[in-house]
Amino acid sequence: MSRIAYVNGRFVPHGQAAVHVEDRGYQFADGVYEVWAVLGGRLADAAGHFERLERSLTELLIVPPMGRPSLEVVLKETARRNRVREGLVYLQITRGVAPRDHAFPRPGTPPSVVCTAHSLDRAASDARAERGAAVITVPETRWSRCDIKSVALLPNVLAKQQARAAGAVEAWFVDDLGLVTEGASSNAWIIDKQGRVRTRDTQANILRGITRKTLLSVMAREGLKVEERPFTVEEALEAREAFITGAGTLLLPIVSINGKQVGDGAVGPVAKRLRRLYIEEARRTAL
Ligand code: PDD
Repeated sequence: MSRIAYVNGRFVPHGQAAVHVEDRGYQFADGVYEVWAVLGGRLADAAGHFERLERSLTELLIVPPMGRPSLEVVLKETARRNRVREGLVYLQITRGVAPRDHAFPRPGTPPSVVCTAHSLDRAASDARAERGAAVITVPETRWSRCDIKSVALLPNVLAKQQARAAGAVEAWFVDDLGLVTEGASSNAWIIDKQGRVRTRDTQANILRGITRKTLLSVMAREGLKVEERPFTVEEALEAREAFITGAGTLLLPIVSINGKQVGDGAVGPVAKRLRRLYIEEARRTAL
């Protein structure tokens, strides 16, 4: 099936989908993005992702190109035209096209809006979640505004490539104090030796994951004890279980860090159960 992309008001064949060479996203990484998981043809955690998108735009002083209802139509129509029932929708909004100058372009310059969608093989992701996956750690080298979902992702790109080369699915950034901040494209969690679920608090310099947020509410409902407190790599290695969350992986158990096994090296019962509960909740509330 031929893929379709949305570019500035038009649905165009994916192969012809392009932005101008002077788009500020291309020249300065001057833009933001969001990723929604598509579950059963609907958008998972829709409101949370819209809220974060609006916040990212506000923080960068980019005027929202359209309201939430119109954006929702764009996202859903992009998913529909690509026949995505299980997969991802990607949305990118940049400060628009203008002659290259670091300072903002003249007021009224329209932001550029791009949306794409693609299918994922959920059976393959389920199988991977059953096996568990590996992460490596890398030094934290990012800027101090990781709460903004900016398209400036070079440290994340380099970290992810290092993970890929090591046969791992993710790289965890580790700060100067030896504490894990988050993954290159996911949030990091452990079930510590005492059986407490732990993940870094969002006052730290990390992305406020929407999957994380929904999972926290699921855990509260289930009466699970959670501590929003950072952990070291050593604590993660001594933990009973570890996992990552994000729109891409949903919840993926982690069984090794830097080639050393976490706990007994097998996918644990808590991560397994939380994956099932998160997916059930996300399917139930998808828009
Ligand atoms: N990444 N941390 C980082 C650095 C991320 O890039 C992401 C998401 C997350 C998880 O956030 P959420 O649960 O809202 O998806 C945490 C997306 C999927 C990406 O870059 O493709």
